[in-house]
Amino acid sequence: MNTPFFYDITLRDGNQSLKKPWQLSEKQLIFERLKELNVQAVEVGFPASSHIDFQSCATLADMAWDKLVVSALARTVKSDIDAVISSIGHAKIPRVHTFLTLSPFHMQYVLNKEPSYCAKTAIEAVEYAYENAKKVNKNAQVQFSVEHFGDCAQNIDFVIDTLKKIVSAGASIINLPNTVERTRPTTFLELVKLVKKSLPDDVIISLHNHNDLGMATATTVEGYFAGATQLECCINGLGERAGNTDFAQVAVALHNNGVKVPVNLDKIYETSMIISQMAKIKIYEKAPLVGPEALAHRSGIHQDGAIKTKDMDFGAYRPIKPSLIGRGDDEKIGFTSQSGKTAVFEIINNAGYPITIEEAIRLTPIIKEISEQKGELSTDEILNVYFKEILNIKGAFEFVSFKFISGDKFELEFKFKNELKKNQGNGNGPLDACLDALKNAGFERKLSFYKQYALDEDKFGSGASAMSVIHLVGKNGEEIIGRAIDKNTARANVKAIFNALNQVYK
Ligand code: KIV
Ligand code: ZN
Repeated sequence: MNTPFFYDITLRDGNQSLKKPWQLSEKQLIFERLKELNVQAVEVGFPASSHIDFQSCATLADMAWDKLVVSALARTVKSDIDAVISSIGHAKIPRVHTFLTLSPFHMQYVLNKEPSYCAKTAIEAVEYAYENAKKVNKNAQVQFSVEHFGDCAQNIDFVIDTLKKIVSAGASIINLPNTVERTRPTTFLELVKLVKKSLPDDVIISLHNHNDLGMATATTVEGYFAGATQLECCINGLGERAGNTDFAQVAVALHNNGVKVPVNLDKIYETSMIISQMAKIKIYEKAPLVGPEALAHRSGIHQDGAIKTKDMDFGAYRPIKPSLIGRGDDEKIGFTSQSGKTAVFEIINNAGYPITIEEAIRLTPIIKEISEQKGELSTDEILNVYFKEILNIKGAFEFVSFKFISGDKFELEFKFKNELKKNQGNGNGPLDACLDALKNAGFERKLSFYKQYALDEDKFGSGASAMSVIHLVGKNGEEIIGRAIDKNTARANVKAIFNALNQVYK
């Protein structure tokens, strides 16, 4: 298979469809992004359309990097072709891109011209472009587009015959646009295959698919496998009406199907965000790959699969690893009434609060009930339940104070079933001494685990900076997890013991 050749049309087809077309400075910025992406060709504009467009084509041609093909659009009229040559002729590899329809419908109802007239016009334009561009730059190339190629099933023999003459006249690239997407990808690609096999092997076949029925990506990807090597794409699928073929989707689909794609895939996400801002066109939530929701999971089954395969290249419920396109965010786990324990566990853990899967199971129905009323819950709303049900659990114990007396002696004050108790305990630290004091009060427990975490955020607004997690073992070997937060680390430890005891003594 030939390496695909990415021909970017964001600055031409994309630009011409904007409510406010870009200024030169904006086009320059986008051109730099396309360089980062490493596209192989950029169609910089339509220089005959306005003085501004002419100027920006000329400036971008100056900025071209090595090996980049700089192309500009011209109707099959000499003045348009001249404008292309004088604006971009000095680029390292300039390309005159001229186009004319050969579709029966369009020739009759829009141009009101005979096919023979259109064929002659196209051939002569290509001849003119080739001769004149070569005079200015020996690297110059000519591309011819059969506008409305998708509507040429009826007269495909005439189109092929004309294209053979167009190639002889100097066009080395034949672009076959699906100017308006009306048919199945396979129906369209049958025509592409006919052209491909009828023209000399060294003619590059290009596709330029509009997305009127939402199948442009499929047509372009399958078109590559059918022999087209130049793929005309727009960032974020910008372009007339429903847009052109989306650059990211084609690049990633080919990559996922074993094709060596010569672009920097890891620049896709950033570029897409920038172009969305500059075009003032939001990326819709569900947009493949780059949409805010493209990597979000809400059903419990999907969340479970996503989390189990999180660090793998092949994800259970995603087409790519987000980092492939430079997306920094992980797969988003959003909690709704459809979600389950895995989401609770992940969301709380990711927020920096320890939780066991058993506790997540306990919290899930409570959180689901809230979500049934409210829809998707924020992390804070889920954490509120965690604080209430796990951290601030109410029971028979109430911690009052804990103070150092002398040596290894501490004094613990607490209430048990509202009765105030004061006990002393010894130990080589507050935790030990507190457990000793509790043993002296008749509540013996052994410590099997202890860890303290620094808190990034104080969800209580209490100035707490540490969270202690302890595991206590009861008389029958049962283990209880206690947690507490406080700005004083020793007090966080002691409060964690009470948190554990309150789970046993209700
Ligand atoms: O959609 C189209 O046919 C075009 C041509 C000018 C290539 O944009
Ligand atoms: Zn187009």
